[in-house]
This record gives sequence, structure tokens and C-alpha cells, in this order.
Amino acid sequence: MALPNKPLGERKAVRDPEIEEREVDVLIVGGGMAACGTAFEVKKWLGDDQSVLLVDKAAMERSGAVAQGLSAINTYIGDNTPDDYVRMVRNDLMGIVREDLIFDLGTHVDDSVHLFEEWGLPVWKKTDDGKNLDGKKGQKVGTLKGGATPVRTGKWQIMINGESYKRIVAEAAKLAIGDDNVLERVFIVELLLDANQENQIAGAIGFSVRENKVYIIKCKTMMVACGGAVNIYQPRSVGEGKGRAWYPVWNSGSTYTLAMRIGAELSMMENRFTPARFKDGYGPVGAWFLLFKAKTLNGLGEAFAGSDAAKAELEKYAPYGTAAITPTCLRNHLMLFEMKEGRGPIMMDTVTALAELGKTMDKKELKHLESEAWEDFLDMTCGQANLWCATNTEPEKKNSEVMPTEPYLLGSHSGCCGLWTSGPDYDWVPESYKIKARNGKSYNRMTTVEGLFTAGDGVGCSGHKFSSGSHAEGRMVGKQMVRYAKDFADFAPALSQSKEELVDIVYKPVRTFLESCDYTTAININPNYLKPEGMMYRLMKATHEYGAGTATYYQTTSKNLEIVMDLLATMREDCEKMAAGDLHELMRAWEITHRIWTAESHLRHIQFRKETRYPGFYYQSDHPGTDDENWFCFVNSKFDPKAGTWDVFKKDYIKIIPD
Ligand code: FAD
Ligand code: ADX
Repeated sequence: MALPNKPLGERKAVRDPEIEEREVDVLIVGGGMAACGTAFEVKKWLGDDQSVLLVDKAAMERSGAVAQGLSAINTYIGDNTPDDYVRMVRNDLMGIVREDLIFDLGTHVDDSVHLFEEWGLPVWKKTDDGKNLDGKKGQKVGTLKGGATPVRTGKWQIMINGESYKRIVAEAAKLAIGDDNVLERVFIVELLLDANQENQIAGAIGFSVRENKVYIIKCKTMMVACGGAVNIYQPRSVGEGKGRAWYPVWNSGSTYTLAMRIGAELSMMENRFTPARFKDGYGPVGAWFLLFKAKTLNGLGEAFAGSDAAKAELEKYAPYGTAAITPTCLRNHLMLFEMKEGRGPIMMDTVTALAELGKTMDKKELKHLESEAWEDFLDMTCGQANLWCATNTEPEKKNSEVMPTEPYLLGSHSGCCGLWTSGPDYDWVPESYKIKARNGKSYNRMTTVEGLFTAGDGVGCSGHKFSSGSHAEGRMVGKQMVRYAKDFADFAPALSQSKEELVDIVYKPVRTFLESCDYTTAININPNYLKPEGMMYRLMKATHEYGAGTATYYQTTSKNLEIVMDLLATMREDCEKMAAGDLHELMRAWEITHRIWTAESHLRHIQFRKETRYPGFYYQSDHPGTDDENWFCFVNSKFDPKAGTWDVFKKDYIKIIPD
């Protein structure tokens, strides 16, 4: 449980916070979909003498990407096969994925969806005569597990009434491990390696954003699942709308930074997700394309995606571009192609789509269809519904603009950056995909740091897990962590730094502030420090202009990358002088630090991969097009915490599932 919010203004930070020390067997960092899956599963396997703790920077009921709710579950295998799921993900991500991880997920994901329904999540159902039943009506015709048919939008997605999705999933997680084993409003700053055992996770440090308290937590094994990275690029929204972004603003790349700073290997950090969204409100397009069968039109009113020019463009990226479903990046590429040729803006033709669907409907059914169109946004992106109201947009009468947004880094949605993890311990999984601990055993989803696991947005090379897959993967990790903790029951984590040294790391921005804040009259202007807000603008400007942001239609060059790497190095140096006067600002200071590291790893990978593997997500203009001969491989990187140096290198891709 967290303390209630402060009575007036932000809670001032003090020089010497209270210190709370904990020691557990299993530590879960993050409280999102993956972490909730782990919490739900872990207790079943833990022995009575083993302990668990979950730490979330926010409140689990509304934390992470599902905070606002969702209107669809995008991964439900149902009558499809896990092999086909692998083929879909592989095609969407231009060929280079970890098929072992994806197949493994495909065999587990439906069980999580069945649980969600059991816990009360309404899933839409199909009647025998093909009608859609939502809400309570959908619940009355039986469960998915019992054989009821879901309303499929695409081959993999099913519709839900999901405004309260996260609350439902969080409640089950909390009930499983108990409130006493959950710390909310605690931000994890750094992970700690063991003092005696090389490359072994031993703990984490963080602070409460509600009281002046530092946490030092020791553990035998840990999962870090803090979602992806948002606001590392200048968002399209300005002024008051600045906080608006597509992925949740509070996911600040902690998963990647926490792990990379202790030497965990990253994979495919060059991959990003640049989502096409309803402009300014960031409303998702999936339901419009798939459920409502809408088309996008260019500024001349042409359905450009089927044009000869578009086909010729897609041919260049065969076999992916010519597959039945065009990969997400190439769908963007076609939009950008139109815009660059002067045929923008791109409009979602909601008017024709609703009119077509309405042809076979009576008045009542038509009204219901219109409310479904609104509910798609009200369930997961209510800002888009507000924007429709504010701009007098009735989707049956007026089309809406669609635009590729600023880039995001994530590994569970339509992107695949993240950590290099072990595959499952089956004989068909290549040895090079297994990561062995010092006892010679491999542990599914363990990173290259012993005892450190990840899931959801954290696992690289395996996108399209979405909410359900992230939960299922968290559950898989829960089991593996208990196995690890049991196998290493004798391991007693030891930290090399003293309590005081650890507090000094976490509260450094506070101490910097208190030492110098009296020097000037304007609290934000001081020759001895800089504030996180200023750093945020610096990062966003640098990545926006040089790192293939929206400023350049997602294009960058080798020279631009050199410049941005230089700027990032200075930013990292300047982070040492960051100052925080209150607890919220302390969180912002650590968030921007995590963002800077994440952005650097992203751009290092782009710099290394001398091709444009994901046109529409980004373009390396010195190396246009894909180059399978040289680059049909993973790109991995590793930061050496002792030497402070980076190594970026190729890793072989192995095809497991035939075409
Ligand atoms: P998250 O669920 O984002 O959880 C991250 C957690 O880490 C949060 O609890 C956060 O508070 C915590 N955290 C972050 N940093 C720290 C730190 N330093 N210390 C402690 N805690 C920290 N999926 C679907 O299936 N269907 C959809 O329709 C769909 N639509 C989406 C629409 C939007 C707008 C978004 C944003 C996502 C959508 N998704 C959808 C994807 C889905 O939400 C994600 O795949 C899933 O939530 C990823 O799970 P995760 O656990 O990796 O991250
Ligand atoms: S959401 O998760 O925020 O709702 P989005 O709207 O992009 O994401 O997509 C939802 C689902 O629909 C994802 O599985 C995505 O891959 C799929 N999708 C979106 N647009 C299309 C399209 N034009 N063709 C095929 N699949 C699509």
C-alpha cells in the first residue's frame, strides 16, 4: 500500500532519508501486465520458507500500458496454431526474430486470456448467426474456455470491454501474493550485482515517491519488467498536450537501463515502433482497420495502399512486403511515401466504413455500431474520444486524420527491442539460444546476468505478445525464478557498497540541490546544477533532429548519428549534476537518466546495422533498403560496467519454423 498523495504541493526532499532494508528470494520489479502474471503464478511454486516482493513505481490498479484499459486482446491463438503465430510475428518484424521464444509464448498465452475472463473481464462473443454480443450479453453465452466463439477482429485479436482490464489483472496479482508483499510508489533506480559471485544479481535500490525513504532490497533472483520507453523522442503534441503520448508516459526505459548498466546483453535495440495513430489524440487504428474494415485515403481521396505505386514499393521488400498482411513498418512506409510525394494528409475513411457495415443493419443495430466506434476509444484512449467531441467529429459523418507518431521502444507490441534472454530448455531450441547459469542449467527468459529475468516489453526479438502475451510470459518467468531460487538455495546475496554509499547514489540529485539551491534566486537557474526538465528538452531535441525523429520523416545518416552520440555523451556526463528539490522531481531525474541510456543504446544499434531493416519506422539514409547478405542477423550489445565501454556485435539468426 502507498501513502495517500501529499496535501499541498510536492513533498520536499530531505538530505537524509529513512532507510528500509529488505531481503527476499524473489523480487519482481514493475507492476504491469508481465509483473502481474509473475505475481499470480509465483506463489503457487514458492516453498513456505521462500519469500517474494513486488515493487511498482505507481499503483498497480492503473499502472503501465494497460492503465487506461484496452478494447482488444491482440494475442489469442484459439483455433490458430503456435507455428502460424511465429510466421505472423516473423513476417511483421521483417524476418529476424527469436522463433523459440515466440512459439513458446504461443503455447501458453491463451491460458492467461481464459483466466482474465474467469476474473470478470467481459469478452465479446459471436452468435451462431454471426452477430456480435458485447458486455453482459457476451458473458451469458459461456466462456472461451468452455468453447464459446470470440469476436475476432483480425486473425489474432479478440474484442473485450476492457476499461477495467488492469484493475482486474492487478487484483488477482495482489490477492495471490498478499498486500504485504507489494510496495507501490517505489521507483527502482539501480540494480546491484553480488559482491562475491561474478555476474550474479543480488538486489536493487530505489526510493518512495511519497515519503523520504530509500529502499535497499536484496534477492536471490529478480525479474525486471518496467515496460518500454516513452518520451525519448520529441512527441508531436505541444504545450499543454505535451504529456500526451501513445505508450504510457511513465514507462521511461527502466527495463533496458537497469539491466544494461549491470552488463546484461541487449538485442535488436535498433528496432522501434512508430505507430500510425489518429492524429493528436493517439487513438489506435487496429479496430478501424480490422473490425470496421476502414481504408485510409490520401489527400486526393485515393485508397493509396492498393495502388500500383504502392505495390511497386512493397515489391522492394519481398517476401515481407508482398505477404498477405503487410508488415506494420511497411504500412507506415506507404503513408510516408504519399506524404513525401505531396499527397497528404492521410485520412481514415470512417464514413464509408460505417455506411458499408450499416447496410445490413436496422436502426437499433446501427446505433450500437456507432457506440462501438466511440467505445473503442473510451475503453483505451479516452483522450481521442474527447478530441472527437472537441472537433465536432462524428465518425459516421466526418473522416479523421491518421499520422505516424514519434518513435517508441518496446518489445511486446509491434516492436521487438529488449534483452537477450534464454529460450526454453527443449531439445529443438538451438544451444546458442540457451543461457546457462553456473550450475550448467538454462532458465527460460533469464538474461545474460545470472538470476536476472525479464518479460513483456523487456524480452527482445519477440514482439506481438501484447497484453495477454506479456501476462503469460510473466507467469512463465515466475516459475523459472522459483526454480532458480530453489537451485541456488544456498546463495546469500551480498552487496559491495555500504548503506550510506547506496543512499548517496539514490539521493544524489537531492543533495546536489540542497547544497546549491540558495546560490540563486530562481530555483531552476543555477550554475551548479541542472533540472530534469531541461534535460528532457535536451534529449528530445537531440533525438528528434539527429536520431530519426519526426523532424526528418524518421531519417538519419551516419554523420547525424555521430553528432547525436556526441550530444548523448555530454548529457550522460551532465546527469551527474542533476538536481531535485522534491520527490516528484527526484523521480523525474531518474526517469530522464534511464531515458538517456536507453536512447543511446537505440542509436548505437542503428549506427551498427548498416541497412534499413524497418522502413517506415526509421531510415538510415546512407544505407537504404535491406541487405540480407550482411545483416540477416540479430544485433546485440553489452555495456561493461567495470570498464564503462560498449561492445556491439552480430548474433546468428536461426530459422526453426519453416515457411
Ligand atoms: P507495462 O504493462 O507497461 O508495465 C510496466 C510497469 O513497470 C508499470 O507497472 C510501471 O509502473 C512499472 N515501472 C516502470 N518503471 C519502473 C521503475 N523504475 N521502478 C518500478 N516500477 C517501474 N495490448 C493488447 O493486447 N491489446 C490492445 O488493444 C493493446 N492496446 C494498447 C494500447 C495502448 C495505448 C498501449 C500503450 C498498449 C497497448 N497494448 C495492447 C499493449 C500492452 O498494453 C503491453 O503489451 C503490455 O502492457 C506490456 O506489459 P509490460 O508488463 O511489459 O509493461
Ligand atoms: S493497439 O494495441 O494500440 O490497439 P493497433 O491499433 O496498432 O494497436 O493494432 C491492434 C492490432 O491490430 C495489432 O495486433 C496490430 O498488429 C493489428 N493491426 C493494426 N492495423 C492493422 C492492419 N492494417 N492490418 C493488419 N493488422 C493490423
